[in-house]
Formats: sequence, C-alpha cells, structure tokens
Amino acid sequence: MEYNSPSDHPIQPARIQSILPRLNALAPAFEAETTHGRLALEDYRGTWVVLFSHPADFTPVCTTEFVAFAKLAPVLKQRNTELLGLSIDSIYSHLAWVNAIRDKFGVEIPFPVIADGNREVASLYGMINPDESSTETSRCLFVIDDKGILRAMIYYPLTTGRNTDEVVRLVDALQTTDRHKVATPANWNPGDKVIVPPPRTVEDAEARKSLGYDCVDWWYCETTVPNAVSAAERKG
Ligand code: BEZ
Repeated sequence: MEYNSPSDHPIQPARIQSILPRLNALAPAFEAETTHGRLALEDYRGTWVVLFSHPADFTPVCTTEFVAFAKLAPVLKQRNTELLGLSIDSIYSHLAWVNAIRDKFGVEIPFPVIADGNREVASLYGMINPDESSTETSRCLFVIDDKGILRAMIYYPLTTGRNTDEVVRLVDALQTTDRHKVATPANWNPGDKVIVPPPRTVEDAEARKSLGYDCVDWWYCETTVPNAVSAAERKG
C-alpha cells in the first residue's frame, strides 16, 4: 500500500500532548531549572509574570526577540511584571547563547530562561504544536497576574517574531481593567478612553446617566482613567 504523505500513514509517531491552559484559571504550577537557578511559578506570587517560549537557541528570529525582550524588561518592571523565557534547549545551550547575545549584540539578557528538556512546562502550557514542529516550542506568551491567574495568551508561528509593544500594551490593558473595572477598546493605549461595562439592570442603566460618562448609546459608554505609569516613565 502506498501513501501520498507521511501523515496519511495509519501508524503515526507518538505526539506530545498539547492542551491549552484556560484563561482566568490558576496558571499551571511548575518548578524548573533556569539560567538563574531553580525557580517555581509560586516564587512570583505578588508579581505579574510574562512567561514566553521560543523555538530554539542560536536562531536568528529568536535572537531578535531576546534582544527586544531584554529592552522590554525594565519597562515591564515598572509594571510589577517579570519576564521568564523557555525553550527545550539545555541549560548549557542557554548560557552559551545568552553569552553570544552579549558578545555579538552588546545586550545583557536580564531575565531567567527555563531549560525545559523534558518538555514538562511546555506540555502544561500547550507550547508544542506538533503540526508546526514535533519537538520545538512555538512562540507562545502567557501573562500571569500577581495572584497566579492566567490572564492572556498569545501564540505566534515559528517564522514570525513577536511585537514587544503589544506585550506591554496587553499588560497595561489588563492592569487598567483590574484597577478601574473597565474594558479597553481596539488599539487602546494608555491615555485613550476606556469602555465602561454595559449595565445589567434597568437601575444601572438609569444611574449611569448622572455619572458623567461619554455615551453613544445606553450600552456604549466611554470614560477616562488615570494612567498607572506616567508617559515619561513609559518611555523608559
Ligand atoms: C528563528 O528563530 O530564526 C527560527 C526558529 C525556528 C524556525 C524558524 C526560524
């Protein structure tokens, strides 16, 4: 019997389970070896975490991302947020690559990088997409809040480097939502108007008329809220 492609064959190689974690649930707990020693997600309680995976060390797109994430680290720190990288490469590979980025690009990598050789963390977070690569982690990014709740996920393919402006915008949006109980519209940036959640009762709908919101209709109201981080601080 002939098969047109390996994926038609009835016997397929074992695949790593890739189940997505759930938004607004407790982020899967882990403890792992990193370039800064052993770390557990629990160690970050009280701090927001941006956990991100990359496909492989010593690859060009990943290198551009690491340089960009290194520049992002102090911007996130102002927002009580720490970066934590991950790939399936060994700790020695991570150390050599981080040194190469310092020597060749003049950039220090300030955040820890998990060596997830046994894919333990990768499988907890669904970072391996077998139809893209059966071994490498995709470009996945998870925002975990200071209570350990998974608040956002971004998945990018191997060939597309991520936009770090979007990462900081996402953290700003989530923290603004928490502080002011509002939602943020398309392409929102700090300083822009935010959306007041629509009323759920006749009473609420009536009450909001006197709250000074800028309303297009009873279900679409905007307002302004103070920025958590000043414009000067945001520029870094
Ligand atoms: C890169 O980082 O350059 C890369 C990694 C995996 C697949 C394609 C590109």
